[in-house]
Amino acid sequence: MKAISIGLFGLGTVGSGVVNIIENHQDKLMHQVGCPVKIRKILVQDINKNRGVSVDPLLLTTNPNEILDDPDIDVIIEVMGGIVETKKNIIAALQNGKHVVTANKDLMALHGSELLTVASESGCDLYYEASVAGGIPIIRTLVDGLASDRIVKMMGIVNGTTNFILTKMSQEGKAYQSVLKEAQELGFAESDPTSDVEGLDAARKMTILATLGFSMKIDLEDVKVSGISNISEEDLQYGKQLGYTMKLIGHAHRDGEKVEVSVQPTLLSNRHPLASVNNEYNAIYVYGEAVGETMFYGPGAGSLPTATAIVSDLVAVMKNMRLGVNGKNAVTPQYPKILKDEAE
Ligand code: NDP
Ligand code: HSE
Repeated sequence: MKAISIGLFGLGTVGSGVVNIIENHQDKLMHQVGCPVKIRKILVQDINKNRGVSVDPLLLTTNPNEILDDPDIDVIIEVMGGIVETKKNIIAALQNGKHVVTANKDLMALHGSELLTVASESGCDLYYEASVAGGIPIIRTLVDGLASDRIVKMMGIVNGTTNFILTKMSQEGKAYQSVLKEAQELGFAESDPTSDVEGLDAARKMTILATLGFSMKIDLEDVKVSGISNISEEDLQYGKQLGYTMKLIGHAHRDGEKVEVSVQPTLLSNRHPLASVNNEYNAIYVYGEAVGETMFYGPGAGSLPTATAIVSDLVAVMKNMRLGVNGKNAVTPQYPKILKDEAE
């Protein structure tokens, strides 16, 4: 039985988690898809770096073409980040007939529509569950679980780093800079944490959620964003004395054809369900016309939680391969209205 061959772009926090799950959950993967999964090549920047995961050094390369041009690689897992070069590589991969799984919200928020179109035209899958809220399967929930409903409101904590910082500052009196460093060491923060602390990472995730939840074209530049870098320990303590907790909250609200999306630090009453979501955990409240109130909670960042979402996407791709339905809108989480708009 032929193994599915994976090309992995990136072996950092998330990439190491992917290697870990593929190695340690082979029995579960076999059970799900009926064949072994094998990592064939891994793209990194520095082959000689000491890593927290042990891989055969012969798997490592610094040349993306060794993966993109390898006819034996079926699926590329992109967990290296970046926008311009990464977009080119993903397009090349799809056009070479390789399915792609990515955790890259920066790319999906800006170029998701274009990339999904290329995937569809190439008969390939492009899955991106890990791009929003780490281990919480929120994209599948919006695309599949709530497919029959009209979503009118989403509200949530979608950045683990800032939630970790606010929790430690508020509950343990730690200083902003030292907790940010801790979040970086734990692998929660982006390589440039400015996007976390200034709210841009959360804005990118809210753009993806609003696009999928409302089935409308949402532009990142229309999202109102402010971050937490100016929040002081005094602000947090003052709120606490009054029975409030500060959280970085993403809001997306739809009223007919009008949509508003924002990310801003918000004082929540301690009785609010989002007030007790702590550390790197995320939670998303989704209100649908028919279903009413729903809430999704789980780890929003970190190696294994994020890798769980990625390997689950990989399982979805492999199931599609078995059924011969890759690249079909019915199965891949698409941006339906955008595709329709662009086709018109
Ligand atoms: P890391 O910085 O830990 O790892 C990045 C990896 O990519 C490293 O192995 C690095 O190589 C490699 N890499 C980076 N740039 C290049 C390049 N130009 N050429 C070749 N290799 C390159 O990042 P994370 O694992 O934290 O994040 C990866 C992606 O996942 C990002 O898009 C991030 O936004 C997303 N994400 C991260 C989450 C998290 O909790 N960390 C959660 C959800 C999504 P080397 O090791 O040699 O330096
Ligand atoms: N830096 C991101 C966060 C990683 O802290 O939420 C998960 O997307």
